[in-house]
Amino acid sequence: MSSRQSVSGANRLILLGPPGAGKGTQAKTLAGRLDVPHVASGDLFRHHQQQGTPLGVKALDYMTQGMLVPDEITIAMVLERILPPLAQNGFLLDGFPRNLIQAESLDQALAGRGLAITKTILIKVPVDELVTRLSGRLVCRQCQTPYHRETTPPKTPDVCDSCGGELYQRQDDAPEAIRTRIQVYEDETQPLVEYYHRDNCLAEVDGVGEVDEICCRLLQALQVE
Ligand code: AP5
Repeated sequence: MSSRQSVSGANRLILLGPPGAGKGTQAKTLAGRLDVPHVASGDLFRHHQQQGTPLGVKALDYMTQGMLVPDEITIAMVLERILPPLAQNGFLLDGFPRNLIQAESLDQALAGRGLAITKTILIKVPVDELVTRLSGRLVCRQCQTPYHRETTPPKTPDVCDSCGGELYQRQDDAPEAIRTRIQVYEDETQPLVEYYHRDNCLAEVDGVGEVDEICCRLLQALQVE
């Protein structure tokens, strides 16, 4: 058995991909299908900011500029949500890990409990498409569901189809922050592709096409009917 195969039958999954690849869009459906919690580091930070917590305040400047929030803050915040007693039946990570230190910390924390990541899926989308998607994105303030002004608009303008919450444009979807985020992904996060390839636990999926079609590709990569 590979060191990453599930020892408990639970799905412990990572969605990897650049900003705008569709991780959040797909994670909402996938987590429902697999019956695991969707744990998105960006959503956790934004929730802290809405609540005005010290953690949220510390993260704000980094996020607005499109830089990574320091590891010591990020790792503790995410691990708290995915290690037992929470997430007993697995989890779907979105936006974490984002560099080698985070990936190694995650592996060590899981290994300490006899667990491992079961699969990482890389969603691949060309840079020009990422910029188009992020520039037109709207997000629900309440449930964080992403929309796009042109490709996936809400039924009623500025109102979330799922929960009726208000839609807004994220500050880090401004052109300069988008450029920084894509560069940070290439410098810091891309090395994780090799990291997860080494253990044969990485699948790569084409992220261009209709949302439902990509969801089918992801389920296929996870071998879910
Ligand atoms: P985070 O919130 O994680 O942002 P991100 O990784 O930049 O990812 P996005 O949310 O921008 O994109 P996505 O892939 O989820 O795409 P989405 O589904 O929304 O992080 C924000 C910040 O928090 C970071 O910059 C950093 O500061 C901090 N942070 C977070 N995690 C961290 C960590 N681990 N370490 C340190 N710092 C961290 O889709 C995008 C758009 O495309 C939407 O409009 C959507 O409707 C549209 N779309 C989706 N699919 C399709 C499709 N198939 N066709 C056309 N349009 C589509």
